[in-house]
Amino acid sequence: MKTGEWNARYRSGERAAEDLDAAPTPLLIETALRLKPGRALDLASGAGRNALWLAEHSWTVTAVDAAEAAIEILRGRAMARGVAVDARVADLEQGEFDIGISSWDLIAICYYLQRNLLAPAKQGVVPGGILLVIVHITDPGEEPTTHRLRPGELKNYFAGWEILHSYEGKPGDAAHQRCVAEIVARRPVDMRVPPQQESKPGL
Ligand SMILES: C[S@@+](CC[C@H](N)C(=O)[O-])C[C@H]1O[C@@H](n2cnc3c(N)ncnc32)[C@H](O)[C@@H]1O
Repeated sequence: MKTGEWNARYRSGERAAEDLDAAPTPLLIETALRLKPGRALDLASGAGRNALWLAEHSWTVTAVDAAEAAIEILRGRAMARGVAVDARVADLEQGEFDIGISSWDLIAICYYLQRNLLAPAKQGVVPGGILLVIVHITDPGEEPTTHRLRPGELKNYFAGWEILHSYEGKPGDAAHQRCVAEIVARRPVDMRVPPQQESKPGL
């Protein structure tokens, strides 16, 4: 979907169960509850179900989404709940947001696939920090697409990282039905892996 279509979807509220009324994703909650709150980045945050939960649980949160409508909703919700979220409109495909290097204790990418975002996201996590990714995967017989990874593909991006959780199958998230790949991985504290090597999946 293009950004204009996402804006129209958020403004109309036509998929409220997935977008506006959706509870925070259970994997994000389980993961964050095991961590000491720090700096969190929610990429392709949508209307902020996960960013808001993190902010309410003592994390310092930045949320990024290309859809202005989503970010407007997120800002309104943050204000209504009395929490701070640094919410930014930025197109990640166009490189409009600089994740930075070793800048975040937790980065979450939930239900958004952009293969070339995984390397900068990995570099953006502090050593010892966590990257959580949930993406849709293909059904048997389907070819991978820009929106769906093939089964087994996600793990290949995390060679050398400590895998805390890896799962493929039906999502444990009421807002979604299609099969997913999930990963929660910890960046090694040992910094000897050169960044250019680290950015290549499968190494
Ligand atoms: C399925 S929603 C997921 C929202 C949120 N992560 C969640 O789990 O509820 C996908 C989000 O990706 C955003 N998105 C799509 N393309 C994007 C891009 N190029 N840059 C940033 N966000 C984008 C959409 O606006 C939408 O909010």
